Amino acid sequence: MHTSRFSALILIAFTLYACHSPNNKKTEKTMEINDTHTYAKPNDAVITHLDLNIQIDFNQHQISGTASYQIDHKSKGKEIIFDTRDMDILDVVLDDGTKATWTLGDADEFMGKSLSISIKPLTKSLSITYKTHPEAAGLQWLDPQQTAGKKHPFLFTQSEAILARTWIPIQDSPGIRFSYNAKVQVPKGLLALMSASNPQKINTDGEYNFVMKQPIPAYLMALAVGNIVFRPEGLRTGVYAEPEIIDKAAWEFAEMEDMLTTAEKLYGPYRWERYDLIVLPPSFPFGGMENPRLTFATPTVIAGDRSLTALVAHELAHSWSGNLVTNANWNDFWLNEGFTVYFERRITEALKGKTYAEMLAQLGYQDLVAETKRLTQEEKAADTHLKLQLDGRDPDDGMTDIAYEKGYALLRHIEKSIGREKWDAFLKNYFNTNAFQSMTTEAFLDYTEDNLIKGNDSLRKVLNMKQWIYEAGIPDDIDIPHSDVFEKVEQNISDWQNGKALGELPTGNWTSHEWQHFLRKMPDTLTLQEMQQLDEIFHFSKSGNSEIVALWLELAIKHDYETAYPVLDSFLVNVGRRKFLIPLYTALIKTEKGKKMAMDIYRKARPNYHSVSYNSVDELLGWKAE
Ligand code: BES
Ligand code: ZN
Repeated sequence: MHTSRFSALILIAFTLYACHSPNNKKTEKTMEINDTHTYAKPNDAVITHLDLNIQIDFNQHQISGTASYQIDHKSKGKEIIFDTRDMDILDVVLDDGTKATWTLGDADEFMGKSLSISIKPLTKSLSITYKTHPEAAGLQWLDPQQTAGKKHPFLFTQSEAILARTWIPIQDSPGIRFSYNAKVQVPKGLLALMSASNPQKINTDGEYNFVMKQPIPAYLMALAVGNIVFRPEGLRTGVYAEPEIIDKAAWEFAEMEDMLTTAEKLYGPYRWERYDLIVLPPSFPFGGMENPRLTFATPTVIAGDRSLTALVAHELAHSWSGNLVTNANWNDFWLNEGFTVYFERRITEALKGKTYAEMLAQLGYQDLVAETKRLTQEEKAADTHLKLQLDGRDPDDGMTDIAYEKGYALLRHIEKSIGREKWDAFLKNYFNTNAFQSMTTEAFLDYTEDNLIKGNDSLRKVLNMKQWIYEAGIPDDIDIPHSDVFEKVEQNISDWQNGKALGELPTGNWTSHEWQHFLRKMPDTLTLQEMQQLDEIFHFSKSGNSEIVALWLELAIKHDYETAYPVLDSFLVNVGRRKFLIPLYTALIKTEKGKKMAMDIYRKARPNYHSVSYNSVDELLGWKAE
């Protein structure tokens, strides 16, 4: 790591002395004002509005155009600083019509280059003309054969955490918000969509106009272009997808409108007007991304039985936790994801009942235990703190299941300690009071002091938040989700292991989550014959449920069940969702035979993967360009 990376950054830390304890013992808190993952100095000059005017060139794999900004020039100083990466800056013009002088800083692998623009004391806006590089990490350009329809190309962006700067020169910090308008020119016959007000039909000239009037941070900037059609779900909700899959997609996500009204009943009005979802091609590296007004989703949640739609509840929940009250800093990532998992499970509980929601919570707890164990073994125990320390690192590195599941567990522990009614009232207030603002972990702690703990020493002790947030591992006071249904699944596994025929197990009404639990709890000692039997009776290799196939393929690798290898091959070549790729490649490289298979498959699969996924797999496999 270069030390020069931070030479331009000032980390202002100041210490607050709060006297919440009745014995007047002062609590010391350090608050980071600056985000070390941006070059911007928002206290000097900050963007407030973006007018984006871009052309999308599928032949060159290039976005080009101008990003015009209104700025708040607080310091009346000499410059404003933007973040850029994988792009060329062509020209910068100030509002008085003069060309500005500008300089690019040294390139950092993940921070990119700072763009310092000389401005005048009275400068209120400026325009940056730029073009992106074909390998821009936040863009994935798909050839027609990588789409469902195979006839048209497709483009989608992924800006979180710090990739917005690879397709727009921008102040790329979650603590900097701006509204935006955009004009996007795409090839005729394609539709463009953004995290903004959206068209519902392809037009003839390929020019689309967008408005996002609520201020958002850069990581929520998003664009998708392709042969896309729209299908309404409810009054405020609908689904976009390629025409080949729109019927299946519209059926799968039919609960969207109910989820939206349920969420509002819990934590207050939805502030973004419409809530739509686009199903992307299978190379999308995540399950979902909470782009405001338009969730981006993987097609691997289309299981045909609506069993994986908690993902929609999750991305919708971000419309409050994350998009409304936003982590100020990537070190506070748990404020986005932990709150969202909690909210997601509350929506799911309200719609599908406690038994169902507790299955999901138990699966999440298993993930938490596994992730904590992995990080501890890899001597990364500090990454099991809720409050992360990502300075000088690629934020993508430290974003693990901890933020999600330990974050969830903390909020569940608070709920259990103070009661649901009080906790819900607190949360509703929290979202309202802090709407469209950023939040640090320390400000959250202060907020709980003022609005929940209110000097109650014994409550503070029971909540034990400092340990949860600043210490490693899983605190003893965790409320472990319990599922009777899963206990029955385990009973069935042991009945089978004790001689009962597989076909006799009462699996007829099992939900896909019971099947997930079943596969996760398979004994290490499975024989090839048992693998065969399992497949013959339960048809795991042919399952249309990606979560089940992925778990099954992991078992197949572990027990060298070769029959499933063709399925493994095509799964890894077609699906680019990182959460599935990592466990499968990890299992493969444990043996020499598997390692060879991994390399052979990866050679074919890598061109299909998004940079987020191939960067992770490259590292895992020690891949070098051939
Ligand atoms: N915001 C995340 C995706 C993300 C996280 C992108 C960090 C880049 C950096 C999104 O809301 C998310 O959490 N997606 C999950 C699905 C969810 C159901 C847990 C995913 O993609 O697996
Ligand atoms: Zn999330």
